[in-house]
Amino acid sequence: TADIFMTAHPEPAAAEHAVPRSAAQDHFANRRTFAIISHPDAGKTTLTEKLLYASGAIRLAGHVKARGERRRTRSDWMEIEQKRGISVTSSVMTFEQDGITFNLLDTPGHQDFSEDTYRTLTAVDSAIMVIDAARGIESQTLKLFEVCRLRDIPIITFVNKIDREARDPLELIDEIAETLALDVTPAVWPVGMGVDFKGVLDLHEKRMLGADGQPNGLSWENDEELSAHEGWMANPAYAGAVENLELAREALPAFDLESYRAGHLTPIFFGSAIKSVGVAELLAAVSRWAPPPRTQPAEPGPVTPERDQVSGFVFKVQANMDKNHRDRIAFVRLCSGTFKRGMKLKNMRLGKDITVSNPMFFFAQDRETADEAVAGDVVGIPNHGTLSVGDTLTEKDDLKFTGIPNFAPEIIRRVRLSDAMKAKQLGRALTDLAEEGVAQVFRPMIGADWLVGVVGPLQLDVLGSRIEQEYGVEIRFEAANFDSARWVASEDKAELKRFLESNRIRLAEDRYGAPVFLAPSRWELQRTEKDWPKLVFQTTRERG
Ligand code: G4P
Repeated sequence: TADIFMTAHPEPAAAEHAVPRSAAQDHFANRRTFAIISHPDAGKTTLTEKLLYASGAIRLAGHVKARGERRRTRSDWMEIEQKRGISVTSSVMTFEQDGITFNLLDTPGHQDFSEDTYRTLTAVDSAIMVIDAARGIESQTLKLFEVCRLRDIPIITFVNKIDREARDPLELIDEIAETLALDVTPAVWPVGMGVDFKGVLDLHEKRMLGADGQPNGLSWENDEELSAHEGWMANPAYAGAVENLELAREALPAFDLESYRAGHLTPIFFGSAIKSVGVAELLAAVSRWAPPPRTQPAEPGPVTPERDQVSGFVFKVQANMDKNHRDRIAFVRLCSGTFKRGMKLKNMRLGKDITVSNPMFFFAQDRETADEAVAGDVVGIPNHGTLSVGDTLTEKDDLKFTGIPNFAPEIIRRVRLSDAMKAKQLGRALTDLAEEGVAQVFRPMIGADWLVGVVGPLQLDVLGSRIEQEYGVEIRFEAANFDSARWVASEDKAELKRFLESNRIRLAEDRYGAPVFLAPSRWELQRTEKDWPKLVFQTTRERG
């Protein structure tokens, strides 16, 4: 009968505000910097909120989301976000539990923002992949997963919404293993799903959690006891779960930390974000298994977190986080050293020092001055346009972090002004927004109009509405008759010069002055590539 699952539980203790940072915590080994990747609607927002709640960073579940509320505070300025019900901005949330500092980087789920998401993923050491238990792997999950794989980012899988009708756990595991070519191993196993949902088996703590996410009194020492308990086995949901789990264990590898950290194996958690089932267990797994700050690719050589000199890079620039001051914050992922407030850091792109006098940490509900930060931490640096996405900041070393690319835009539009007197404001708006990474901006070598390039159409809406609202400039986008854009480069400088001189009408400069070839069609692009074999036509370009 079902009532064995209905043990009464005390309310979870009301969590106090986040513990203050202590000296013991100020070591990079205590940092877990991660992102949640998912397809829209899989439950990323809900899970984020429940993770914050589980850590005690917020007192009331419902705080992050509270539907309209979240949207009002976080992005009032962006009507598009409200209209379309999607979240298009990235940010960071720092929270702490038991001496571990978690830096959760928010990735926009919508595909038009994959560029932004990609850059955010360059700044994390691990990821949680959220999958809707009824839908399995969806298109956006797959894309984001591929980005993680490129960088060998280890992944913990959370199969969400098992409180609803869902697919069979073994079938889901098969799909994940096959579609992603990844080993899967069970960590938290469902007992019933949908109307039969009874809770989950926490295989690490060897205990069962009821449908409310709290321990329901059942625990075991060794796995045989799971099927030996006659009272429990009389319940079909439980018996079915144990049987499935046994099958899974026979077919699947056991957990192996090295294999997980190399990105070959994903532990899988079944749970319900909305009911807080499996969420605390997920957080515990992040603190137990997820890697502390990893070595970051850079030139002339990779940077390890042990290195004394402070270094970091800007992975995101965000404007208007606080409506009262028109501010602009560069999010820097620290990669080495101990950063202290007031420190001078060199912006390698400009070759200029900046004094970081007002760095900030972003907690669930407030920002706080960051007096000290270590590798893995994310600090926000307010600035007026000196910092841009991809910039490397260092204390003394000459080095540059790599792998934070611009992508060749797939949609190119000409920007037309309604009021020709506003050309200057438009230039300012486009430069600012390009620095934030909202769109790419090109100046044609012939002609006065600006061109903008984006990867997805929604980016154009965001760009247009921000230019209008924030800079008071009315614009429209017109077809530009270009099908694709490629950065042109060559070892052979003379050949490059010849190309640039004979193709001026098809050329533009990006905002760093790098030449970009604009092809009217795929065919034309291919022909040009053939005609100029000594040139390379690149689809991505490192920033800076
Ligand atoms: P996203 O950020 O990944 O886009 O997803 P979000 O958390 O906004 O969740 C999408 C929808 O799925 C929401 O429903 C949310 O309540 C629901 N959901 C999230 N986790 C669970 C879960 O564990 N179980 C069930 N049954 N539902 C879940 P909505 O109807 O769009 O919004 P709301 O009105 O319920 O807030």
